[in-house]
Amino acid sequence: MDRVLALARETRKLRFVTAFQPYHFSPYAAVQMAATYQRASGNRLVWNIINGGSEVVQKQVGDFVPHDDRYLRATEFMDVVRGYWNNPDFHYHGKYYQAEGGGLKGPLAKAELPLICTAGSSEPAREFGAKHADYYLMRAERPHEVAELIADVRRRARAYGREDAIRFGLSIDVITRETDEEARAEAKRFFDEAEARGATKAAAAHAGLRSARKLGYETEFRREEPAQRQYDEFFIHPNVWAGFGYIGIPPGCALVGSYTDVVARIREYHAIGIDLFFLAGYPHLEEAYRIGEHILPHFRAERAAASRPEAGAALPLAANGG
Ligand SMILES: Cc1cc2nc3c(=O)[nH]c(=O)nc-3n(C[C@H](O)[C@H](O)[C@H](O)COP(=O)(O)O)c2cc1C
Repeated sequence: MDRVLALARETRKLRFVTAFQPYHFSPYAAVQMAATYQRASGNRLVWNIINGGSEVVQKQVGDFVPHDDRYLRATEFMDVVRGYWNNPDFHYHGKYYQAEGGGLKGPLAKAELPLICTAGSSEPAREFGAKHADYYLMRAERPHEVAELIADVRRRARAYGREDAIRFGLSIDVITRETDEEARAEAKRFFDEAEARGATKAAAAHAGLRSARKLGYETEFRREEPAQRQYDEFFIHPNVWAGFGYIGIPPGCALVGSYTDVVARIREYHAIGIDLFFLAGYPHLEEAYRIGEHILPHFRAERAAASRPEAGAALPLAANGG
């Protein structure tokens, strides 16, 4: 937190995303910490509320609440967070949390609630996102598959009167170069090195992102498991390469192509409803420069700080951490 506050003092636009699970904090502690941070940073905190994909890992760290119930707990957690945030005298009696009279008061009550992101594509995850997320985050799939998920979450959001309030984000890596050939050569290099190390195990991929729902391409690859695969078998859509997932690098897909093609593909995902892009590359610094110099300038008109629609935001289109 100290480091982030130091960065907040030196920057104006950078937002700070913290990913955590509800069991990490009591809602009251989370509210106090976030409000303090919001006051100090000028409301630049983003919460990515996640709920764990692997039961084994959850139990290793002491959380024995089963998968679907974790989303019920997250829903209560956010109900209580909003309650404390907006009332000085909040009362609540849920399955996981109780409150009798707490809430933000004084200067802290002026802070804005952090922007709320969440991820997870199981049914309970979608329901939680529909009720509480400003941005529902997804892993990349084929555009029509992403569009189906958006439609489902938007339909659920309608039940909470949030159909227009919820927005959608895509987490995808980028391998982009001046030409398509150069970008593909880089993807091939990653793939061949992983193959040489014996790291190409589809089942081992997404260790941190294990989900109750398999993506379409994951199921297809598992069904047709040949002895050896080539890197270019993993293009599931033009410029959308699932090879990273196969070699164990989450979130699983990368945009691979020339600067022009990658810009076109971002526009394609934007056209089906993605407003926030979590873009990443390896090595981070070099690829961040490349994306900053060759991709982001194409979106000057559309880019804006990610914020809630009711705050009067233009279309937000942000690179990771941007
Ligand atoms: C875009 C995206 C970002 C995620 N970020 C994190 C993260 O920062 N930390 C983490 O532990 N899990 C992260 N996850 C994992 C999810 O929170 C969740 O555990 C996983 O998607 C399984 O959920 P499900 O079984 O409900 O589909 C992320 C997932 C996605 C799709």
